[in-house]
Amino acid sequence: MRAGPQTPRNARFVLKRGVRWVCAGPLGRCDNDFIGNASEGPMHGKRILLGVTGGIAAYKSPDLVRRLRERGAEVQVVMTAAAREFVTAATFQAVSGRTVRSDLWDPAAEAAMGHIELARWADAVLIAPASADFLARLASGQADDLLATLCLATSAPLAVAPAMNHLMWSNAATRANVALLAARGIGIFGPGEGDQACGESGPGRMLEPLDLAERVGALLPGGGALAGKRVLITAGPTRERIDPVRFISNRSSGKMGFAVAQAAREAGATVILVSGPVALATPAGITRVEVESAADMLAAVLRELPGTDVFISTAAVADYRPVRAAEQKIKKSSETLELAMQRTTDVLATVAAHAERPYVVGFAAETEAVEQNARTKLMKKNLDMIAANEVGHDKAFDCEDNQLIVLGRNARHELARASKLTLARGLVALIAQDLAARAVPRQRGSALA
Ligand code: CTP
Repeated sequence: MRAGPQTPRNARFVLKRGVRWVCAGPLGRCDNDFIGNASEGPMHGKRILLGVTGGIAAYKSPDLVRRLRERGAEVQVVMTAAAREFVTAATFQAVSGRTVRSDLWDPAAEAAMGHIELARWADAVLIAPASADFLARLASGQADDLLATLCLATSAPLAVAPAMNHLMWSNAATRANVALLAARGIGIFGPGEGDQACGESGPGRMLEPLDLAERVGALLPGGGALAGKRVLITAGPTRERIDPVRFISNRSSGKMGFAVAQAAREAGATVILVSGPVALATPAGITRVEVESAADMLAAVLRELPGTDVFISTAAVADYRPVRAAEQKIKKSSETLELAMQRTTDVLATVAAHAERPYVVGFAAETEAVEQNARTKLMKKNLDMIAANEVGHDKAFDCEDNQLIVLGRNARHELARASKLTLARGLVALIAQDLAARAVPRQRGSALA
């Protein structure tokens, strides 16, 4: 369909699937083979603010706009001054159908929609490409141009797609900035590895537009890979009372479980986190149930189990508890003290054997023969997946990072050393992938089972 003479000069483009369109607007004639349909798609009605900063990868960003609009999103492009050295605003205006913004001090644009309004307008903000300079400005909270100001002023989920020379990416300053942004909950999409515009090769390529469009979908509330799923997670240690002032416990900060809860929430799930005593803040949007002992944890899990799609057991549950907790403080009347202990119920195995069994994921904390012991637990407890890590000797406990071996019945993945949140996101992606594969068993075999 070609726009006829009656096409209004400022008309929004009417997009039809598979239709080539032409529009004669204020920017002149533009011709495209856009395949979007703004009235359909998984992002229908969602508002994406796309920030474009100065880097050669900006040439891919108009394609990203198309990919987002194909999914039904409205896209508002905001360019930095450096971005305009690489791609023109006219290109973005043509593919987005909206006036591009770049100046904090433009009275005409501010009169139409002020920068604070624009920050509120967005359902999600993606900066692609995100240059090293922009990451530094974002990390230090600067508000010296429109895009940086919007990032400070928005409460929408925010992600960056870094793109730069591999040495700039590996530089300690950039690493520190990225770590800071990740710790603040900003999504770090990529970068990918490969040949770079400078002729060198390494990590620093912006992810492909299709990949970024998928990831933005996951940023949107209810739009992720676990959208519509209820995920029940246990975390932290349990405490088994000896007397009113003493208890037996396991060493566990709860950080991995809380990271898994955050990652599942980011993936769109409804998350219930049953946690033993830990000193961690509850991630946003998550329901937390606090428990103390293994028996409390079992009771809470069984209470929350109905309707659960995925159970993830990261808790370091005490395996034994004193047969009887003393009513009063035990006095040191003898040289030695013997405590009679009895086994606690295995929460994970109980859920895996339950009539309303969800998809069940365990963790294995091992000090030796990590993979072998984890595989034995996978089979013995009848799990769908187990994530194994080496603990003890200053490994895993209270650390910010870790590494995991993820085992399914017939599959194995290694998640390389990274922050616990990055690992948690990787684990959640594997779970979502396996769940999706199980939902269509005729088309594809299960990824992990
Ligand atoms: N687990 C559980 N309830 C228990 C013990 C363990 O739910 N009473 C779960 C943990 O949350 C973890 C998995 O079982 O997901 C494996 O825990 P781990 O401590 O590694 O092993 P155990 O089963 O306790 O066996 P062992 O201590 O002999 O290694």
